Formats: sequence, structure tokens, C-alpha cells
Amino acid sequence: MRIIFLGPPGAGKGTQAGLLQERQGLTHVSTGEMFREALANGSPLGAEAKRYMDAGELVPDKVVIGMVKERLGQPDCAAGCVLDGFPRTVPQAEALAREVEIDLVIDLRCDLAAVASRLEGRRVHLPSGRIYHVDSKPPRVEGQDDETGEALIVREDDRPETVARRLKVYEEQTAALLGHYQSAGTPPVASIDGMHEVETVSAAIVAAIEEVKKNA
Ligand code: AP5
Repeated sequence: MRIIFLGPPGAGKGTQAGLLQERQGLTHVSTGEMFREALANGSPLGAEAKRYMDAGELVPDKVVIGMVKERLGQPDCAAGCVLDGFPRTVPQAEALAREVEIDLVIDLRCDLAAVASRLEGRRVHLPSGRIYHVDSKPPRVEGQDDETGEALIVREDDRPETVARRLKVYEEQTAALLGHYQSAGTPPVASIDGMHEVETVSAAIVAAIEEVKKNA
């Protein structure tokens, strides 16, 4: 099973993809996380991506497509994966379609007004990608990852001015992907309300996956 998550910044894509990895054994492939890891490792890819990410802009298609192609060829993606943050443009979607078959597109809807407080309170454990929120999902010890005790960080691009730009970029360059998939007719698109509690959203996603399996 290969799933794509669409949705604005802060919709909960990473949170839900993490749950699918934990509970359904689907590998979570997050392009944002891959760039953050590359930056932490001091690689040239990380340095190039940082320029765009810090400005709230998209990393150029050529860079992202090459990186995802390579990632999808790794053994842990063979049994299924969740693509979180890719594709983000129509050329990315077209490149993906040439590589692999996608079984389900999940459009995670979220009020843009909620996004600001979600991103403002987000804390991340960089090595694992575990995601917290100071109010709705606080770590057991403030500022520390539950599993390792390591420090949680605030993402550079979660500053309010960058969030505003990311939302604009989403509207201008990524929102059209929903129509792209809907008009293609396949893979099926499930529209899920991301404004409910995490477990409610998760149950709706699992139900959409079961529906696809039933019709396979
Ligand atoms: P990326 O890391 O993919 O960021 P994003 O898509 O903007 O999405 P976010 O990670 O901000 O949000 P999310 O939907 O995953 O929400 P989360 O689960 O964390 O990309 C970063 C940058 O990398 C881009 O701006 C771009 O520069 C570059 N990039 C990446 N992919 C690219 C591509 N394909 N092409 C070009 N450039 C690319 O949740 C947010 C918060 O809300 C958390 O604190 C969480 O605990 C909380 N929360 C989650 N669900 C709920 C809920 N149901 N109720 C209450 N709180 C919730």
C-alpha cells in the first residue's frame, strides 16, 4: 500500500504518517524530514535545501524528485509507504506516477486559523522525527523526547513570518494537486477532516485504507 498525504502545513500529515508507520508497518517518507536530516549531517543537499526552507519556499523540483526516487528504491519502502510532503507540485506528481503506483491519496483538511497555533506550539525530536505539541501532545518532561530524553527543537520555519509564506506557497503551488488527483479519477482520494482529535483523524484514515483494500 502506497499512500500520499496532501494538506497544508500543520494539518497533521507528519503526526498521522507516524501513526501509520507505528501501527500499520508503512514506512514514513517525509521529504521535509529528509532535508532536515541532511542539514544536521552537514551535507551539501541540506545546505541547499535550508535556503529555501528558511524562506518558506519550495525546494526545486529537480532536487526533490531525485531524492525521493532514490528513497523509494530502498528496501524498507517495498512493503508500502506513506509519502508526507511529496508531491507538492504537479511536475512532482507526474514524476512520481512514472516511478510507482499509488493506492490512495489522503487530503487532510485543516482550518488555516488552527495552523498558526499548531505550528507555534510544535516541538520536534530531530533524530526520530517524533512530533509533540506543548498543549495537545506535551512530552512527559518539558523539552525532552519521551524515548531518548534528548532535546526537542522548534523548527526554524515555524516562525510566524515563515509560516505565513509557507501557507501562501501551499495555496499557490500545492493546493492544485487535489484537483489534479480528483480529475484523474485514480488513485482514489479520501478527504479527511483534520480538525478532530488525533485518534479520531487516525480512525478515519484507517477506515479509508480499509475501503481501498476491500475494493482491491
Ligand atoms: P515539511 O516538513 O513537509 O512541512 P509541511 O508540509 O509544511 O508540514 P508540517 O511538517 O509543517 O506539518 P504537518 O502537516 O506534518 O503537521 P504535524 O503533524 O507536524 O516541509 C518543510 C519544508 O521542506 C517546505 O516548506 C519546503 O521548503 C521543503 N519541502 C518539503 N517537501 C518538499 C517538496 N516535496 N517539494 C519542495 N520542497 C519541499 O502537526 C503540526 C502540529 O500540530 C504538531 O505540534 C502536532 O502535535 C499538532 N497536531 C497534529 N494533529 C493534531 C490534531 N488533530 N489536533 C491538534 N493538534 C494536532
